[in-house]
Amino acid sequence: MTTRSQWGSRLGFILASAGSAVGLGAIWKFPYMAGTNGGSIFLLPYIFFTVTIGLVLLMGEMCMGRAAKAGAATAFPRFAGPWVGKIGILSVLTGFLVLAFYSVVGGWTVYYTFEAIIGNGIVNDPAMMRTEFGTFASSGFAPVVSHLAFLTATAVVILFGIDKGIERVAKFLMPLLFFMMLGLIIRGLTLPGAWSGIEFLFKPDWSAFTGESLLNAMGFAFFSLSVGSGSQMNYGSYLSNKVHLPSSVTWIVFLAILSSILGGLMIMPAVFAFGLSPDAGPGLTFATMPAVFAQLPFGQGFAVMFYICLFVAALTSSISILEMSVQYLVDEWKWSRGFAVTVTTTILAALGTLCALSFGPLADVTIFGKTFFDFFDYLTSNIGMPIGVLGIALVTVYFAWPMTCKQLSLVRPVSPWFLKTYRIVGGIFAPIVIVLVTLKGLGLF
Ligand code: ALA
Repeated sequence: MTTRSQWGSRLGFILASAGSAVGLGAIWKFPYMAGTNGGSIFLLPYIFFTVTIGLVLLMGEMCMGRAAKAGAATAFPRFAGPWVGKIGILSVLTGFLVLAFYSVVGGWTVYYTFEAIIGNGIVNDPAMMRTEFGTFASSGFAPVVSHLAFLTATAVVILFGIDKGIERVAKFLMPLLFFMMLGLIIRGLTLPGAWSGIEFLFKPDWSAFTGESLLNAMGFAFFSLSVGSGSQMNYGSYLSNKVHLPSSVTWIVFLAILSSILGGLMIMPAVFAFGLSPDAGPGLTFATMPAVFAQLPFGQGFAVMFYICLFVAALTSSISILEMSVQYLVDEWKWSRGFAVTVTTTILAALGTLCALSFGPLADVTIFGKTFFDFFDYLTSNIGMPIGVLGIALVTVYFAWPMTCKQLSLVRPVSPWFLKTYRIVGGIFAPIVIVLVTLKGLGLF
């Protein structure tokens, strides 16, 4: 195996792992998923799944990565033997396929940044909100070029290596994004009619509850933490033995939930204030923001900064995913880093192009009734990641419990009740809930 890099500091690790978790999920996916799945009835289960299964098994994922000093494809078979070990390669594939549609949305941030720079960052007539996004997304050429630009940016950062590239980028732009979101939330909340958006997000409407919305909430909880898709295990493998996992992972989970709630608070009040439909679909955030910027002094300048921050948030997530895929090929297939980056990026360029065209020329081409974009999103979040998380539960509780205890207690011992809670959540609750919610969401009972 090659010598593995290590994080420069605990803060560097937390920021990079939080960077992997916090990205388009919070700002793009959360608002639109909440919008199409009943608002509060999506938010509440999302938080529940995140602080139970997500929190515990993200710790488990990091334990496995650090103990094995390897990514999912090596760690799983090492701890669980060849058969259950196959979940490792499935996780790597899941993460890789996330990037197919993720880089398309990353591309939207590139396009909107340039639009804002040339003075098209605001929409004064709310009636134009949907059509502006629809015209762009369905145009074919612009979304494909933007997707390729985003993917290329990801590949370039990967070629710099983790310490130089990722830590430097994550350290200063993540906090800036949070501050900008706070500013936008305050402006959005003061718009007339904004309160309906808050009610939609926080006042439970049980009539909207369905098995599918529950599966979507669980899938989004995993997606937003990047758990079960190999990338956090890979980051864990770069982690020194001096970092206390439970507290670091709790920070990452806290930041992920906070950013999704902020994402919801930023978009939903504006959606209602401007009379847009919350179930407008994947374009919701991008359709809404230009109208919010129009309400701000220096709206154009604010728009440029916002999209740059969003681009970087997306980039820190896509970096972690591509890094994981590349590290897999370096470790297992003995490829050089440069070759691995070239091959993965080329395949993703092709798959992402199919996804980018899903809103225009390929809108009628479907797999199981879903466009390429929706198919890759559903397949990874609602099937691939739940299997990956289930695998982590089985490995860390049943196959390698002593390893888990050792990793959780490496810096300072954790209490017996903590370990007991881990065993119950990871060993009993998570497997039952993941299987039931997935089968129910797929309509199998
Ligand atoms: N966890 C990443 C995000 O939410 C994929 O953007």
